[in-house]
Amino acid sequence: SATQRTTNGAGGCPFHAAAESPMAPNGCPVSAQAAAFDPFDSPYQLDPAEALRWSREQEPVFYSPRLGYWVVSRYADIKTIFRDNLTFSPSIALEKITPASREAQAVLERYDYGMNRTLVNEDEPAHMARRRELLEAFTPEALEAHAPMVRRLVREKLDAIVERGRADLVAEMFWEVPLTVALHFLGVPEEDMEQLRRFSVAHTLNTWGRPSPEQQVEVAEGVGKFWQYSGQVLKKMQDQPHGHGWMYDMIEKNRQKPDVVTDNYLHSMMMAIIVAAHETTALATANAFRQLLSRPAVWAELCANPELIPAAAEECLRHSGSVVAWRRIATREVEVGGVTIPEGGKILMVTASGNHDPAHFENPDELDIYRDNAVDHLTFGYGSHQCMGKNLGRMEMRIFLEEFTRRLPHLELEEQEFTFLPNTSFRGPEALWVRWDPAQNPERRDPAVRSAQRDFPVGAPEARTIVRRVRVARAEPEAEGVLGVSLVDPAGRALPAWTPGSHLDVVLPSGESRKYSLCGPATSGDWQVAVLREEAGRGGSRWVHDTVREGIELRVRGPKNHFRLDETADRYVLIAGGIGITPIIAMADRLKRLGKSFELHYAGRSRSSMAFVERLERDHGEALRLYPKNEGARLDLASLLAEPDAGTLLYACGPERLLAALEAGTAHWPEGSLHVEHFTAEGALLDPQNEHAFEVELADSELVVEVAADRTLLQTLRAAGVDVPSDCEEGLCGSCQVEVIEGEIDHRDKVLTAAERAGQDRLMSCCSRAKGKKLVLAL
Ligand code: HEM
Ligand code: FES
Repeated sequence: SATQRTTNGAGGCPFHAAAESPMAPNGCPVSAQAAAFDPFDSPYQLDPAEALRWSREQEPVFYSPRLGYWVVSRYADIKTIFRDNLTFSPSIALEKITPASREAQAVLERYDYGMNRTLVNEDEPAHMARRRELLEAFTPEALEAHAPMVRRLVREKLDAIVERGRADLVAEMFWEVPLTVALHFLGVPEEDMEQLRRFSVAHTLNTWGRPSPEQQVEVAEGVGKFWQYSGQVLKKMQDQPHGHGWMYDMIEKNRQKPDVVTDNYLHSMMMAIIVAAHETTALATANAFRQLLSRPAVWAELCANPELIPAAAEECLRHSGSVVAWRRIATREVEVGGVTIPEGGKILMVTASGNHDPAHFENPDELDIYRDNAVDHLTFGYGSHQCMGKNLGRMEMRIFLEEFTRRLPHLELEEQEFTFLPNTSFRGPEALWVRWDPAQNPERRDPAVRSAQRDFPVGAPEARTIVRRVRVARAEPEAEGVLGVSLVDPAGRALPAWTPGSHLDVVLPSGESRKYSLCGPATSGDWQVAVLREEAGRGGSRWVHDTVREGIELRVRGPKNHFRLDETADRYVLIAGGIGITPIIAMADRLKRLGKSFELHYAGRSRSSMAFVERLERDHGEALRLYPKNEGARLDLASLLAEPDAGTLLYACGPERLLAALEAGTAHWPEGSLHVEHFTAEGALLDPQNEHAFEVELADSELVVEVAADRTLLQTLRAAGVDVPSDCEEGLCGSCQVEVIEGEIDHRDKVLTAAERAGQDRLMSCCSRAKGKKLVLAL
């Protein structure tokens, strides 16, 4: 595009001579949109992701003359920056984005204001040395211990309004509860909450806002008082060194290792952490309630299925996070997204924009509580500075949602205009008015509702909890021993669209699940699967056959697609064995619609046991070859695969025997020609008797963890607070893939091709391990 800048090493620019527009510090002209960008204008204030859509699409890295910053808007570029905190120093994270006026400066000096490095804006190696000393308060066990306190605080606030019928939830509790939780967590004695809230607002405006000259002085007064107050509280705490809380941990470390946890750090942190720990969470909760309540059907779904609350909270953090932009400064000249940023260039990463990047999130503007990679969002940052308190913030949001969905499921959002504190980084409505009819409160009829709480484990949401309820609209035999099942949304809406190769995980009463491919037709807004009764199986298909009837509800996860059809080839060979026809028929439908050339080979015991024969003959008669064994027909793989063809892709599903024969029979085909779907991982993925423990170095997080013989790498990463998405957790889906920098891998998945394995540069963390003593991962 016209605005894409390629620079030579000297910082020159192809458009230089012609340009009349303002220049960026790298010598390139600034595009009209970049010149007009102002984060204090209403588009960004109202919806930062939307305000940067043009940038994501056309100019993902640009210089903003009004701000004096390089703005970065795409997911991958932001993550690259977060990954490398030597090239991209966080030292300016808490710098005043609008320089103080002389008068404001004088005010701050009068208060001896000396906010300096904390954790979030500290460089290496000091930062990690300090962070490692202070991690203990964030272990899952340590955080779990705070859950009853959070619950009690939320419940008290809710009790106070539950009979009222109308409230501004921000004023009633979204500020005060996270603030109180933060103070408890830190061990800070509860003080004047209103005053602390005013201090926080002043700090936010001072750091991330653009106060007018008159406001500057007022803001500086607030910040100066906050600084003094923090010093006094710290002093009080230092005088009573036996208290409990994270601030006391710091005070203790300051005594033991004053060069690591320094005096100035203590005072700066005391002020910064009060804001970091409560304002972020307060705003995130307000955003989440606003988003969910403005979609009554989604809210109703959460009320009916509270298991989804952790996933919904995470999706809200992605869709409408409370931290929308974060800063770094380039310590050397560096290229980001094709643009040269000079040494000293200040960078504003608009994480809210990255969270809406279609290159990473499908339908990014939709709030989809079933999304399974929401946890990849950038709202907590990423890498070695990633939010230490994320699991406390998540816990608070979940408890708020759990209490409200249970006690006030009939809650409604009032018509209102939302206002936001004008600043670049912290975002959430200043008020959130809701109403409900107290006569409808479930606890009036059943007092037990008030205390029937549900708890969620600490950490990222678990993939297995992302479950949708669907109603069986039809359940009829499709062939001998094969039950065809159509599923619809219980509320009558269209179910989400899916692509050929997708499957559903049907959740059994035991909590286990079974995968069934969607067989289509794909356009109808309902979902169809076909289930073979396997007497010798583990019992899932017997349960489906014995239980599933029209009208009942099922719990399913997905659709997910680990068997995607590459639509770019010239020719296709589709091969199905028995019930393996289910994904293959959907692929045939799709290829026909695309007008592609394909053959469909379908083998089975007998015509009467083979599902969809009639439909296949009707829709795909010319492409179809049937091989019913009892009629003596036999699929001759050797001759089918004899001639490799670079323009042909093979897709196959069926018994493991067939797939193994295909893998062997295509050894002379180009790498990547054959695509198969495995439905089960063979054998035990983890056999503690025969495993060895190994060490894993996490390069981005600057951590070293030990994977015990009886734990998976994925479990170990999670316990260390590193969020990795996962889905199948048996090596079948590829969602837990991690980049490997060093070390020999013991691959145990079914996802990677032989060439990908040989590359030794990635692994599936749910099942694969180290061959030797150590791996280094890009995490
Ligand atoms: C750092 C967001 C809650 C403590 C951060 C960063 C972000 C963030 C964006 C910078 C990350 C980076 O540079 O990569 C949030 C959000 C929260 C939240 C959205 C709530 C929804 C909390 C809570 C606590 C906390 C409750 C405290 C208990 C910290 C600390 C850091 C941090 C200590 C600095 C970590 C370091 O630099 O090593 N947070 N935060 N945060 N947060 Fe949070
Ligand atoms: Fe599916 Fe690891 S979670 S391969």
